[in-house]
Amino acid sequence: MAGVVHHLIFLLIFIITKTNAIPPPNPVQCNSTGCILHNSYGVWGDRKDCHVSGVIYPATEEELRQAVANAAKNKLKTKVVTRFSHTIPKLACPATSDQNAVLISTEKYSSSIAVDAASKVVTADSGVPLRALIDRVEAAGMSLVAAPYWEGVTVGGVISTGAHGSSWWGLGGAVHDHVVGVRLIVPATAAEGYAKVVNLRTQDPLFNACVVSLGMLGVISQVTFSLELAFKRSITYNFTSDDDIENLVFNHAKEYEFGDIQWYPSQNTAVYKYDNRVPLNTKGDGVNDFIGFQSNSILISKSVRATEKAFENAKSVKGKCTTASITLAYKRLTANGLKNNLIFTGYPVVGHQGKMQTSGSCLYSSSIAIDQSCAWDPRINGLFFYESTAIFPANKFVDFLSDVKKLRDLNSENFCGVDIYNGLLIRFIKKSKAYLGQSEDSVVVDFNYYRADDPSTPRLNQDVWEEIEQMAFFKYGGRPHWAKNRKVAFLDVRNKYPNFGKFIEAKKQLDPLNLFSSDWSDEILFGKQVVKKDGCALEGECICSEDRHCSPDKGYLCQSGLVYEQARVCRRSITAAPVKLI
Ligand SMILES: Cc1cc2nc3c(=O)[nH]c(=O)nc-3n(C[C@H](O)[C@H](O)[C@H](O)COP(=O)(O)OP(=O)(O)OC[C@H]3O[C@@H](n4cnc5c(N)ncnc54)[C@H](O)[C@@H]3O)c2cc1C
Ligand SMILES: *[C@@H]1O[C@H](CO)[C@@H](O)[C@H](O)[C@H]1NC(C)=O
Ligand SMILES: *[C@@H]1O[C@H](CO)[C@@H](O)[C@H](O)[C@H]1NC(C)=O
Repeated sequence: MAGVVHHLIFLLIFIITKTNAIPPPNPVQCNSTGCILHNSYGVWGDRKDCHVSGVIYPATEEELRQAVANAAKNKLKTKVVTRFSHTIPKLACPATSDQNAVLISTEKYSSSIAVDAASKVVTADSGVPLRALIDRVEAAGMSLVAAPYWEGVTVGGVISTGAHGSSWWGLGGAVHDHVVGVRLIVPATAAEGYAKVVNLRTQDPLFNACVVSLGMLGVISQVTFSLELAFKRSITYNFTSDDDIENLVFNHAKEYEFGDIQWYPSQNTAVYKYDNRVPLNTKGDGVNDFIGFQSNSILISKSVRATEKAFENAKSVKGKCTTASITLAYKRLTANGLKNNLIFTGYPVVGHQGKMQTSGSCLYSSSIAIDQSCAWDPRINGLFFYESTAIFPANKFVDFLSDVKKLRDLNSENFCGVDIYNGLLIRFIKKSKAYLGQSEDSVVVDFNYYRADDPSTPRLNQDVWEEIEQMAFFKYGGRPHWAKNRKVAFLDVRNKYPNFGKFIEAKKQLDPLNLFSSDWSDEILFGKQVVKKDGCALEGECICSEDRHCSPDKGYLCQSGLVYEQARVCRRSITAAPVKLI
């Protein structure tokens, strides 16, 4: 306990005095023998790396077209990689190591951002980072209404996976629902020069396939987003009891344009975000610098991880609960990173939309000292966690909440492991026409939890996360966020999208040679059941049906869920097989 307090006090001091940070590593690392692609967490499932023979860095649309033409002419498997690669599933990997493949990077394709004030739209190159887009739009007196909470994404990447913030108002919280045009480069016949640009507007039949396309239809060259006149927002967090959450959740979405709820089940706490737009002349120049996306001292990130690991090894639920309660107190004190000015001085915090919707200060370096980074930077042995995200049809959500409450009420301490992170973050997305978007008004739940360094190590309370995961995706029909989750979440995903068939039709039309599909992306899109190997359930590669899918040696057996009895989860069991002494 003292150790944790110590760490958190340090964290405080470091945040206040923070100076410089190292930016995240480039996702593509090459040498004379080839290249390796990672995601930003430096890990990709059981077979970690993605090997490719080369990567191309086009800087203009014509160079982008030539890159696709070259792939089409030579029938090379191809995927786009961005400067960030912040997607968790292995969607961007073009091939298995024995196939010829090429990566097209949008890192250098980011020069054009054109705001058209009269039509209230902005058109940007697909490699443009979200922050650059937002700053340009705000400078022109406009605002982009929707964005994910994390700004480390590109224009092409953010619409490809259905990324979202939170809103049931207007066009809603998903970024792709604010897109009015896409220029897509697809393979073509030899006569057409092997690749061509298709310019799609909302009324085009292919448009609804192309906004959320997982990088599987071609290369997005440019995206046009609709804008509104610049506005400010006023935010207040209410840290309160979670007693009434089932009854309050929908009113909350209706009453607050950008409302969300953080639910910390072990702490019996819900944090309601009261968040509405206010006129531009409202006083206030606040910033939302979300605490989880600020840069941390590398030393602190390492020791927070080491502490979490120590609690895991000691099977100390109490230790985790102490961390969870201190973390929550710290968030309350700092308003999750909202700042009226340089610091938080009180609610409400009022600021420009461009400073309030999305953040990611750990992304930027300011030279000299290199003692800070994003807390999960793979180079530092910092945080390492899973992120499960289920998107529920609104009418099923309250039943899901009640089930989770039942599970919590059996033993609330079992939930401390998620409450160390952001608890269950509840957000709202509106019905969308995108084929791989949400076909009805929906509620999104994210939760993060400890991931072991070694995939064969079972984790404290992992049965609880597995039960919630299976409840979400199988009992209540939740759809997995395309950019997050473990493999099990994607099982049967195709049957959850009424327009899935139309997406596949569009794919046949735009990419008949299937150049933009790989075994990796197919695994996600088609949600295939994998061959169940020993230990496969530990990392969410499968659902256990036998003890060997868990870790019988370490006392984890395949058992039923406690509330959702059909769930099959790996639970630490006293009657486990004796530990092998080697
Ligand atoms: C810390 C963190 C917080 C996050 N918070 C949120 C959140 O609040 N809400 C949310 O919805 N998501 C969130 N995400 C997920 C994130 O929004 C998505 O992963 C997003 O897709 C990442 O964008 P990227 O530019 O890094 O794309 P990448 O991860 O590089 O690419 C995503 C996919 O799109 C394809 N692609 C990219 N560019 C193009 C292009 N030009 N043409 C064709 N295909 C392309 C890639 O091949 C890949 O398949 C978060 C992720 C992290 C790491
Ligand atoms: C070069 O990259 C390959 C993989 O592409 C890797 O196996 C090898 O270790 C790397 N060599 C050096 C010297 O970095
Ligand atoms: C916070 O939420 C609780 C529960 O809904 C409510 O009773 C209370 O009035 C709210 N506080 C503020 C300041 O709005």
